[in-house]
Amino acid sequence: MAKLRMGLVGCGLRGVFDPQSVAKTIQGHDAAELVAVADSDPIRAREAAEHLGLGDNYSDLAGMLRRADVEAAYVVTPNPMHAANGIDVLEAGKHLMLVKPMGMTLEECDCVLAAHRRSGKTMMIDSQIPFGQVARKAKDLIRAGAIGRPVTTWDVQGRGKYRSGLSEWRFGQAGGIFFETLIHTLLFHRWLFDRPAARQVWAWGEKTFFQEYAYPDVVWAHVEMEGPISSVLGENHLMDRFFSSRVVVGTQDSLYFERSRLLLGGKTKPPEVVFETDEGPRTGLAHSIRHFVESVQSGREPDLTGEDGRAATEIALAANRAMETGQPLALPLVQVAR
Ligand SMILES: NC(=O)c1ccc[n+]([C@@H]2O[C@H](COP(=O)([O-])OP(=O)(O)OC[C@H]3O[C@@H](n4cnc5c(N)ncnc54)[C@H](O)[C@@H]3O)[C@@H](O)[C@H]2O)c1
Repeated sequence: MAKLRMGLVGCGLRGVFDPQSVAKTIQGHDAAELVAVADSDPIRAREAAEHLGLGDNYSDLAGMLRRADVEAAYVVTPNPMHAANGIDVLEAGKHLMLVKPMGMTLEECDCVLAAHRRSGKTMMIDSQIPFGQVARKAKDLIRAGAIGRPVTTWDVQGRGKYRSGLSEWRFGQAGGIFFETLIHTLLFHRWLFDRPAARQVWAWGEKTFFQEYAYPDVVWAHVEMEGPISSVLGENHLMDRFFSSRVVVGTQDSLYFERSRLLLGGKTKPPEVVFETDEGPRTGLAHSIRHFVESVQSGREPDLTGEDGRAATEIALAANRAMETGQPLALPLVQVAR
């Protein structure tokens, strides 16, 4: 099948300049092709095109979207721009791959959902965890009853301090850890357990070290979902190396996630390796792009939909509010200010 011809919106670190950027991943992909890039900063747009060996670049998104050979766009702009840029893409009649978070408020998410319905195009919220082989295997095992009834997840991460070179918006407009990074975990849990509704969110956070960061740099949350499944997730930005621990605990056994391995066991037997892959840790983006292309070409709904993006934004908003008030929040939220 012909490659999907894509444009890129947002030529920053993740979009273009990181070693495993979106642009470079599309350029190395066998299912997609990068035809043009756009950035509101004309110098950045030109530098990006040069860096990628592309002729065409736009500081005017509408100009790129007028091109008939741009069939789809990947939006990877700052968090507060996602909804507006996503709507531009859909209204131009193009398929949309929108990086997480879908929006900063429920109103923004609802506007994107409405634009998506009007467009009749494919829209996917991009987060990579569900597209790795370990995650796919885990979902198959859970569906097959391998752990009994899933009861709870324990999902914690530690990251090194913020890198230099990050843009200003990251420190005051990104929404904090729940919007920036734990939203991947929220989207993953929703996918893994077939979209249970979240009922209540508790959260705690403290700003300890990074005074230039407007948000707590240590957080945890407890999310109660239909099932019932309760999810405990946490993250800190104080560790000097990446740390991650992910377990799904069931009534019979548990699934222990390692980078390239999945272990099953607990109550009925000691944990043993049930799946191992040699795929690298950074292949998730190539997999999620493939899934998007297949969704466009088949007309099937992608695994991470706009409704999933809205649900994750809702939990992130509730967690931020719960951190402020010290009180649990019941969902669904009617309206929570940014
Ligand atoms: N694993 C992941 O999914 C992952 C990883 C890293 C970053 N991200 C996300 O990627 C996004 C971008 O992060 P980054 O670090 O590349 O940011 P960045 O600040 O380096 O880049 C953003 C770019 O968007 C441009 N821009 C701003 N407003 C625009 C507009 N209206 N139209 C077009 N271009 C515009 C800016 O000029 C800049 O070049 C963020 O939403 C971040 O959360 C996702």
